[in-house]
Amino acid sequence: MILIDGKKTSADIKNEIKVEVDKIIQSNKRPPHLVAVLVGDDPASRSYVNSKEKAAEKLGFKSSIFRFDENISEAKLLEEVAKLNDDDTVDGYIVQLPLPKHIDSQKVILAIDPNKDVDGFHPMNLGKIITNMPGFLPATPYGILELINRYKIETEGKNVLVIGRSLIVGRPMSILLSQKRKGGNATVTVAHSRTKNLKDFSLQADIIIVAIGSPHFLTADMVKQGVVIIDAGINSIDAPGTKRGYKLVGDVDFENVSKKAGYITPVPGGVGPMTIAMLLKNTLLAYQNNKN
Ligand code: GUN
Repeated sequence: MILIDGKKTSADIKNEIKVEVDKIIQSNKRPPHLVAVLVGDDPASRSYVNSKEKAAEKLGFKSSIFRFDENISEAKLLEEVAKLNDDDTVDGYIVQLPLPKHIDSQKVILAIDPNKDVDGFHPMNLGKIITNMPGFLPATPYGILELINRYKIETEGKNVLVIGRSLIVGRPMSILLSQKRKGGNATVTVAHSRTKNLKDFSLQADIIIVAIGSPHFLTADMVKQGVVIIDAGINSIDAPGTKRGYKLVGDVDFENVSKKAGYITPVPGGVGPMTIAMLLKNTLLAYQNNKN
């Protein structure tokens, strides 16, 4: 079994990005600038945004967090988004989700300039994926593609099962894997909450990508020997007796599935670290497109 090390791979990618940022700074240009918009004070969102800021600064990016009160109106938030679109010193930005219930997230995502949409959530960027045009890939599927390619995992002609159809992981992932591209050319099945007899599909799969947000969902009896497992789940479960009282686990029963797998990503330390690296890669790309 080969453990797919997302921590090491993301460090490699961040080093590659840093080389480019160092060149930019040495030529006396301003560094790429990433902004994160954070509404309210949800602890998970705060922690994600802080990690993104720290990682960006470590590579020499300029990084800012625009914090807004939980009660900001939708109109005011849309105004702030418009300001970010107009600000030439901001190369890319993300609006951390989820937003408070009184704000329509779809409206906000639609208002983001697709050229600054480094999360790849705008329909323009999702549409570009489908039509094979260059654009921003959402960070998690992009990170999974990098893991597959850097570990030289063959996808051509393979049976791939994607479990989960979310717009930010499962859906774009399934499209990318079926495309004529490096890390593509696979025969892809998308399973979801209404799929019947999932095991019939999972036992046929050479590669399984799980992104449904259900702890230990994929078990050893559901997979064949030598399968490649990519676990995009991050679930917090109670862990009495530990210092924090909880621990993070994926959507895969790692302990048992790893005994049958050819390759497998751990949680934490697999897909998670890749997501931030690819967000920074998208921000560098946005900077380069911004004709500095
Ligand atoms: N909430 C959870 N993950 C993400 C992400 O990757 N981007 C944004 N904007 N919000 C999130």
